[in-house]
Amino acid sequence: MERHIVILGTGGTIAGTGHDSSRAWHYDAAQLSVDQLVAAVPDLAGVPLRCRQVAQVDSKDMNWSIWQALALALADELRRDDVAGVVITHGTDTLEETAYLLHRLHDGSKPVVLTAAMRPATAPDADGPRNLLDAVRALRWAEAQGHGGVAVVMAGQVWSGLHVRKAHTHAVDAFDGGGASALATVLPNGELLALVDAWPRSGGAGWSRLDTPVPPRVEVVTSHADADGVMVRALWAAAPDLKGVVVAATGHGTINKPLLEALRGLQQGGVMVWRSSRVARGGVVPRDGDEFTAVEGLTAAQARLALVLHALGARLNESEG
Ligand code: SIN
Repeated sequence: MERHIVILGTGGTIAGTGHDSSRAWHYDAAQLSVDQLVAAVPDLAGVPLRCRQVAQVDSKDMNWSIWQALALALADELRRDDVAGVVITHGTDTLEETAYLLHRLHDGSKPVVLTAAMRPATAPDADGPRNLLDAVRALRWAEAQGHGGVAVVMAGQVWSGLHVRKAHTHAVDAFDGGGASALATVLPNGELLALVDAWPRSGGAGWSRLDTPVPPRVEVVTSHADADGVMVRALWAAAPDLKGVVVAATGHGTINKPLLEALRGLQQGGVMVWRSSRVARGGVVPRDGDEFTAVEGLTAAQARLALVLHALGARLNESEG
C-alpha cells in the first residue's frame, strides 16, 4: 500500500488573500486553511494526502510555542508506518529559521519538505499552488531516493534546511543556499533532477528538545560603522537572564572595536557570544584561536537558534553532514 503524505499548515502568504488586485502588496497572510490550499491544486487530487492545521500566522510572528506545536505534530506523524513524510506550508519571512530548527531536531529518517509563496493565493499569478505541488513531488522523489531530512522547495529549487535563506524581498525565486548548491531542481515536466549526491545529515537532537516552556534567551546584535556597544550594555542591563548573543559581524566575522570590547565584557560575565556574518554568502569559517565561536554558513537568525539549541544541550556539530 502506498504510504500517504501529511501536509501541515502554519499560515504565510501561501495562505494569504488579497484586497485589491491592482496592488499586489495589499493582502493578509494566513487566511486560507491548508485543506483549501490543497483543494486548489487539481494535480493533487488522487494523491494520498492528509491535512492538519498546526497554526495560522504571518511567519514574522513565529514563536517558540508554535515551534513546539509543530515539533509535536511532526513527532506524531513521522513515527507512523503509513506516513511517507511531511510537507509544511509556511510564510517566507522566517522560513529559514523553522527549516534550520527542524533540520537540527529531525533524525532524518523521512523527508520533511517546507514550502511557501511570495504571492497570495488570490493573486492571478500565485506561486503557491505550483510550489505546493512541487513540494509533494519532491517528497515522493526524496522517499524513492532514500533521502531523509529537511528541505525547502521554492520556485522549482530544492534547498537544504541547513543552508536555505530568503535572499530577495519580493522576487518569486526569493531563496538561495548562501553559497551552497541546491539539492535538486524540479524540471518543467515535474521530474526531479538531483544536483548533489547526498542531503546534509540531520542533527537528530530530537523533537522533545523544545519541551522547555521558555527558550533560553539569545539575542542578535549587528556590527556596523559607529557601533559603540551601547546595545550590548543596555541588553545586559535589561535582560539578566541573557544566555547568549549572536553578532551579525562584518565580512568574514570581524567586529567594530567598541562593540568588540562590550562583547568581551559580556563573555567574561558568562554570556556566550557567537559570530555569523552580515554578508549574504560564504559565512564565517572557524579558525584556530577564535575568541568567539564562528557558525559557518548560518544566517544570524539561524545562528540564534543554533545557540538556543546549544544552551539546551544540543551540539552544533551534530548537524554537519
Ligand atoms: C509570512 O512570512 O508569513 C508572510 C510573507 C510571506 O509568506 O511571503
